[in-house]
Amino acid sequence: MTVGVVPTGAGLGAEISGVDLSQPLDDSTFAEVEAAFDQHGVIILRDQKITPEQQVTFSGRFGECAVNHNAADFGIDGSPEIYLISNIVEDGRFIGTPKAGPEWHTDMSYAKVPARATMLHAIEVPEMDGLPLGDTEFANTAAAYDALPETMKHRLAGLKGIFDFRGRKRGRPISEETIAKYPPVEHPIVRTHPRTGRKGLYVMRNDCTGIVGFESEDALSLIGALANHITRPEFVYRHRWRVGDVVVWDNCTAQHKAMQDYDLPQRRLMWRTTVKGTEPF
Ligand SMILES: [Fe+2]
Repeated sequence: MTVGVVPTGAGLGAEISGVDLSQPLDDSTFAEVEAAFDQHGVIILRDQKITPEQQVTFSGRFGECAVNHNAADFGIDGSPEIYLISNIVEDGRFIGTPKAGPEWHTDMSYAKVPARATMLHAIEVPEMDGLPLGDTEFANTAAAYDALPETMKHRLAGLKGIFDFRGRKRGRPISEETIAKYPPVEHPIVRTHPRTGRKGLYVMRNDCTGIVGFESEDALSLIGALANHITRPEFVYRHRWRVGDVVVWDNCTAQHKAMQDYDLPQRRLMWRTTVKGTEPF
C-alpha cells in the first residue's frame, strides 16, 4: 500500500489515502500515518468501513485506549473503549453524549495526563436537504504560538494555566464524582510537543480557569486574548463530515469545537475513542 498525505490547505490537517483500516496495518504503513499525524495535527481517512473492534485496534496503535467516564452510559457492548457521541434518542434516552464540545477545547485538559489523541468515526452525519451539518473545527496551537510577537512569547515563558472544574463559569454541569476524580491541575501555557519538540499554546476559555500567580481578572483577560488568537481563521481547518470518515486529532497540536447547527430529526452518530498521552511539559 502507498500512503498518500495531502494537506487540507487550511490551518492544519491532512487527508490520508491508501489506508484501509479494516485490514491490519504493517509497521511501516503505520509509521507513515503517525508521521503525518505528528506533522499535521489532524488526519482524515475517508470511506472507512470498520467494526468497533477495528477502530479500537487502530486507536491502540497510537497508545493505550482510555475508557471515558461517559462510556458506562454511552458505550457499545463489548467495546468499552468506544463511547458514542450522538443526539439520537432510543427508549426515551440519548444513546450518546449529545452536543459534545460546543466550545473551543482540547480533550481531557482537566487531567494531569491529558489524552494524546482522539478519534471519531462518522456513522451518521446530519444533513438538511443534502447540506451536511455538524462540522468540527480544528485550530493549530503550534502555528498560533509561532505567530506570536516575541514580547508575548517572552511573557508566556514559564507560565502555568490552572484547570479547575470548580472554577468554571460556563459549560454543562460536572458531577461531584468527576470533580473528585480530577482535582485541579496546572499545565504549562506554552507546551512542548512530546514527539516533535514543537511549541504550542495550551490554553483555552472555560477549561483553563486561571494562571498561577495572576489575579483572576488578569488571568482571564490573557486567557481570552490567547484563546481568540489561537482560533484566528488562518489557524483553523473546518471538517465537513462524510459517513465513513475517521478523523484523528492530536490534543497537543489541535484544539477543536463542534458546530451545533442540527437537531432531531437530523441524526448524528459518531464512535469516539481516546488514546492516553503524557504529562504536559
Ligand atoms: Fe472534545
